[in-house]
Order: sequence, then C-alpha cells, then structure tokens
Amino acid sequence: MTTASEKALVSSIWKKAADFTEEWGEDALLRLLTVFPQTKTYFTNVDITPGSAKLRAHGGKVMTALAQAAADIDNISSVLSSLSDLHAYILRVDPVNFKLLAHCILVVLANRLPAEFTPEAHVACDKFLVRVAEVLSQKYR
Ligand code: HEM
Repeated sequence: MTTASEKALVSSIWKKAADFTEEWGEDALLRLLTVFPQTKTYFTNVDITPGSAKLRAHGGKVMTALAQAAADIDNISSVLSSLSDLHAYILRVDPVNFKLLAHCILVVLANRLPAEFTPEAHVACDKFLVRVAEVLSQKYR
C-alpha cells in the first residue's frame, strides 16, 4: 500500500528525473544489459552499444513513461495500458526482467539524486516500480 507521503516522494523524484530522461534512461539500460546480460536477447531492434543514439532514445522513452506514471500515480494501469499490451503480447518480456530493470533504475536514482534518495524515498520508489511491473505484466495473467 502506498501512502500519501510515499506518493509525494515518488512525485518529487520523478519530476526531477523528467528533466534527464535520456541520460538517466541510458544509464539504467546500460546497467541492465551489463549486469544482467541475458536481457540483451530482447533488444534485437536496438543498437545496444554504449553511446548509441538508439539506446539513449530508448532510455528516454522508458524514463518518460515512468515520469508520466508517477505524475498520475493513482491511474498507473490506464497510463501504461498500451505499454502493458506491448510488453506482454508483442515483446513477450518475461516478468522477471521488470525486477531487474527496477533494480537498475533505483541504482540510477540513488546515484543521481544522493540527497533526495533517502531510505524513505527508496521504499517509495521501489513500491512504485513494483506497481509498474505489475501493470506491465498483468496481461499475462
Ligand atoms: C519498448 C517502457 C521494461 C524491453 C518500450 C517502450 C517504452 C517502454 C516506453 C517504447 C514503446 C514505443 O516505442 O511505443 C518500459 C517501462 C518498463 C519497461 C516503463 C519498466 C519499468 C522492459 C523490460 C524489457 C523491455 C524489463 C526487457 C528486458 C523492451 C523492448 C522494447 C520496449 C525490447 C522495444 C524496443 C524497440 O524495438 O524499439 N518499453 N519498458 N522493457 N521495451 Fe520496455
């Protein structure tokens, strides 16, 4: 259960992230592909070499979607509905991978926002990313 103060923390953190979507998104994806190389198999359409324009653009899309979900945190399932269809039916991303990406995103937030990323903000962002993962994989069920 996400409390009002957790929602405020998520909102504040993702407002900041919204100004750096490509840079932080690229960082998160590079970590995902490096730390969990089995995730590379999904990205056949994206040049995943460090520094590639496509990787940066893709990172930007992921972070922008998260910033939109954070801005409308009570309606995450409708905000992400088409992405849920995409990941479940078209890309067929195994749900376990959402946990791996969430971990990498938390590392990026901790690095980029060291003062804001308190233990309380960490919990709030973790819960938010768990909820996003539920929404993106709920069509499997
Ligand atoms: C595409 C968001 C997790 C693999 C996308 C797109 C967005 C997105 C916004 C672009 C959709 C479009 O262009 O219309 C997210 C979010 C995630 C997430 C918010 C969770 C926080 C994952 C995971 C994987 C994955 C865990 C696999 C390990 C892909 C692939 C594409 C894609 C392969 C298509 C890339 C392409 O060919 O251009 N995702 N994604 N996503 N996502 Fe995700």
